[in-house]
Amino acid sequence: TEPLRIALAGLGTVGAGVIRLLDANAELIARRAGRPIEVVAVSARDRAKDRGVDLIPFDWVDDTSALATHERADVVVELIGGSDGPALTLARRTLGAGKSFVTANKAMLAHHGLELAEAAEGASVALKFEAAVAGGIPVIKGLREGAAANAIERVYGILNGTCNFILSKMESEGRDFAEVLAEAQALGFAEADPSFDIDGVDAAHKLSILASIAFGTQPAFGDVAVTGIRHILAADIAEAAALGYRVRLVGVAEAGPAGLFQRVHPHLVPVDHPLATTTGSLNAVVADGNFVGRLFFQGRGAGDGPTASAVVADLIDIARGEFGPPYAMPAASLTALPPAPAGER
Ligand code: NDP
Ligand code: HSE
Repeated sequence: TEPLRIALAGLGTVGAGVIRLLDANAELIARRAGRPIEVVAVSARDRAKDRGVDLIPFDWVDDTSALATHERADVVVELIGGSDGPALTLARRTLGAGKSFVTANKAMLAHHGLELAEAAEGASVALKFEAAVAGGIPVIKGLREGAAANAIERVYGILNGTCNFILSKMESEGRDFAEVLAEAQALGFAEADPSFDIDGVDAAHKLSILASIAFGTQPAFGDVAVTGIRHILAADIAEAAALGYRVRLVGVAEAGPAGLFQRVHPHLVPVDHPLATTTGSLNAVVADGNFVGRLFFQGRGAGDGPTASAVVADLIDIARGEFGPPYAMPAASLTALPPAPAGER
């Protein structure tokens, strides 16, 4: 059988994790995918960097955008990051060249998801992004496929591992915000610009994608009301604990008659609530469906292993020929809902 040949741009935390996973579980992946998955080309910025993975068998492509038309590749995997710049150029060129595209880049999808979905559907290729929301948790697949028959009434959850790690450690170990942030960065959880994490922007990127999957709406990142955790003090967390609560950064999306309500804010969560017991870099997503009832997803939301797991799951789908529309329905039928009026938020 012909392998699925992939070209991979970005060999940082996630990219190197993908190479390690494809190598460690090669046999199992080939059996489940029905054919081997082979990396034929890679790209990053710095050729000299030690990435802890063996790159010798691969072509190294210096001009990232050339990966899009690399003749030996069937699929391009983008793990560079950034809403515009090389990631977006690569996405447009790949889909324009009629090749499937896999990404973990929630910032790019929050801003350009609709355009990219239309391009993928126009070219009859896959655009897949399981890793972009809640790391290793299969929440895109869970909502888009598992809950496809339901009208979703509300979706909410903890969507940023870095913030959850900081809030949990500040509470359980009484540690300082800056020190715990530095640890999250060292563990590979944080974005290149960690203000995206702590100011709630990354959670808002993910919420806008999740809302589009849950409600069949166009991603509307600009309509998300956002407050991050930058100003939360150890004293706030201690006071919440004394009252029986934990502080969590929660994203909520709800579609009502007035429009789409989307917000990311620190919340007080009762200590026995599943969002309060979601600690460290774990993420959690709750979705209420009109027939299935409440769905609760929990798992590791950041880091090389969980994120690589989601990226490779997308590759296995493509190897099997399972594309599906990128969102809950074809891009042409995604509704544009106005933001709910401020008074109703
Ligand atoms: P890193 O910063 O660790 O890695 C980014 C990689 O992109 C580096 O290898 C870098 O090269 C490479 N790169 C930068 N510019 C270019 C370019 N012009 N051409 C080719 N390669 C380039 O990021 P992460 O691995 O953490 O994140 C990658 C993506 O995954 C982002 O979109 C992020 O939001 C997303 N994500 C990350 C998660 C995580 O836990 N880290 C979880 C879920 C999603 P070099 O190494 O030479 O500098
Ligand atoms: N910086 C992100 C987080 C990575 O901490 O959740 C996973 O998307």
